[in-house]
Amino acid sequence: MRKKITVVGAGNVGASAAINIAYKELADVVLVDINEGVPSGKGLDIAQMGPVEGYDVKLVGTVDYEATKDSDIVIITAGFPRKPGMSRDDLLMKNFEVVKTAAENSAKYSPNAIIILVTNPLDAMCWAAFKCTGFPKERVIGMAGVLDTARYRTFLGEALQVSVESIQALVLGGHGDTMVPLVSLTSVGGIPITQLLDQPTIDAIVQRTRDGGAELVKLMGTSAYYAPAAAAVEMAESILKDKKKVLPCAAYLEGEYGLNGLYVGVPVKLGAKGIEKIYEVEMTEAEKAALAKSAGAVKELIDVLKDKAGIA
Ligand code: LAC
Repeated sequence: MRKKITVVGAGNVGASAAINIAYKELADVVLVDINEGVPSGKGLDIAQMGPVEGYDVKLVGTVDYEATKDSDIVIITAGFPRKPGMSRDDLLMKNFEVVKTAAENSAKYSPNAIIILVTNPLDAMCWAAFKCTGFPKERVIGMAGVLDTARYRTFLGEALQVSVESIQALVLGGHGDTMVPLVSLTSVGGIPITQLLDQPTIDAIVQRTRDGGAELVKLMGTSAYYAPAAAAVEMAESILKDKKKVLPCAAYLEGEYGLNGLYVGVPVKLGAKGIEKIYEVEMTEAEKAALAKSAGAVKELIDVLKDKAGIA
């Protein structure tokens, strides 16, 4: 039987994800949005690219969750972008409502699906979806580390003039200014990065990675979408094909890394069951402190949700 992926949110990230899924012929796609017309139009447009590009997937757009029934994977991209004058908490609460509706409807129609969150603030939205669906933690996963790592690898590839494919790296922590690119575990063709670049260059790349999303918002006036969508689809592919890739993803932690009851980016094994293993890696003292700080920033947002949205 053909696989089915629902993409909630027919904006830039959602549409780009649908295109990537189609090119890979991963699954049939249902694009859902609250705006009549747009999801149907984008679904049709991407479907009409099929004869040209040579892919055979069904693509439909809709405002009705009924069409999402029995999806294997649901990628939630829907949400408001941050606008001037808006506090982080405003965005948090607005997107909480969006994610709550998306998560509850997805769970209702696809009780066995694996949910991949993309909506920001990412780690807090994962927590909200986890709570609103009641799904096991293995089946609610956040996309952030794959994207942040891809940015980090892009910058390193540029600095070294080597293929990005030769760069192994890991970015942990929350998807925000406090994320933690693990320099101690970054290597190029097996060679530690510290043997190839001086510390000021590495520091600058780490900072540019942390600011990677903001750099694009500044350039484009809106959040990035090609790389975020590709990252979410890489996760979906590992799950649908049971590839068991080890990727940094936002996962619900219960004691790992000394953290409890929150989502933070950590390396996980992604297979048919969703998160099949969380890896705890050795870090330097400075990296441990940075991860604790990043987790603290995520916890603050979750505490606001607990307080204002009344979920425990
Ligand atoms: C970014 C958004 C997708 O980092 O969070 O560009």
